[in-house]
Amino acid sequence: MNEVLLNVTGLRKSFRINSGVLTAVAGADLIIRRGETVALAGESGCGKSTLGRMIAGLTPPDAGSVKLLGTELIGLSHRALRPWRPKVQMIFQDPFSSLNPRSTVARILEEPLIVHRRGDARERRAEVARMMERVGLRPEAASRYPHEFSGGQRQRIGIARALMLRPELIICDEPVSALDVSVRAQILNLLADLQQEMGLSYLFISHDLSVVQHLADRVAVMYLGKIVELGGKDSFWATPGHPYTQALMAARPLPGTGQRLRDKEILEGEMPSPIGKREGCDFRARCRCAFAPCASTGPELRSRAPGHVVACHLTQG
Ligand SMILES: Nc1ncnc2c1ncn2[C@@H]1O[C@H](COP(=O)(O)OP(=O)(O)O)[C@@H](O)[C@H]1O
Ligand code: SF4
Ligand SMILES: [Mg+2]
Repeated sequence: MNEVLLNVTGLRKSFRINSGVLTAVAGADLIIRRGETVALAGESGCGKSTLGRMIAGLTPPDAGSVKLLGTELIGLSHRALRPWRPKVQMIFQDPFSSLNPRSTVARILEEPLIVHRRGDARERRAEVARMMERVGLRPEAASRYPHEFSGGQRQRIGIARALMLRPELIICDEPVSALDVSVRAQILNLLADLQQEMGLSYLFISHDLSVVQHLADRVAVMYLGKIVELGGKDSFWATPGHPYTQALMAARPLPGTGQRLRDKEILEGEMPSPIGKREGCDFRARCRCAFAPCASTGPELRSRAPGHVVACHLTQG
């Protein structure tokens, strides 16, 4: 098995808002190995982006540990973090809002190199041209501005920017969710090619399980701030253990038809509020399998099969 690149344990984040304390991530553990793609799925608002941002160092956690190649990043000084920062980069759903509209593509791509003092001006320009070609953009377009590109091309710029510092891990936060279906496959193929060539690891965030089905080595499902299931692709897709995962899978549209797999298992209701304290299993109000213990005790993650854990009282190891 490949080396462990990222080891996250007990990561938590709450936000104090007017109506109380909102727990966005309630303690998450996750390992990502070199060259691996781990998907993070779950409905909107379950905490995926907050978890991704904490791993990328964009949101400080309240508690927990983020180790990259064995080095603890939480609590490091700005200076001590400097050599580690380039190793984890992020790609966002909406590349337009994450690209400075007043900068040319050349400037956007060169900036990380300037900040991290990589190369002289000529080397940086050459690297920008190389990377543009690598992601399928014409280097002549370097003098243009983000609004002059299509959505798919803008996402290519976002990917190029994330790659400029030669990262090890890229947090892809819904990178194709805002794109037309026809463009999605192109961007997903590009990410797969880049992974092969550059030995990248991905944490691939998507609210839609069908997007991650073909690209993930392992899949984690989040519900209300917690990872409720995590498994290797074979075990995960063949024998999903959590009633929530089963409902998400049943809700996937069938390829080409747009129809659902099994109508009666479709998820009903909404995720409960993440504000305030909670007891028991967070999924119980929507769970067709709920029984008495689910109201009082929150289930812990337990082994269902090798490399496959589920947080549900019904799970037998
Ligand atoms: N900066 C913030 N301040 C207050 N609440 C936030 C903030 N960021 C996220 N949240 C809340 O945390 C929860 C998880 O959000 P998020 O991580 O964006 O979920 P997802 O990416 O799965 O849609 C949501 O209830 C969201 O409203
Ligand atoms: S612990 Fe109970 S309520 Fe929660 S998912 Fe399992 S059966 Fe459903
Ligand atoms: Mg999000």
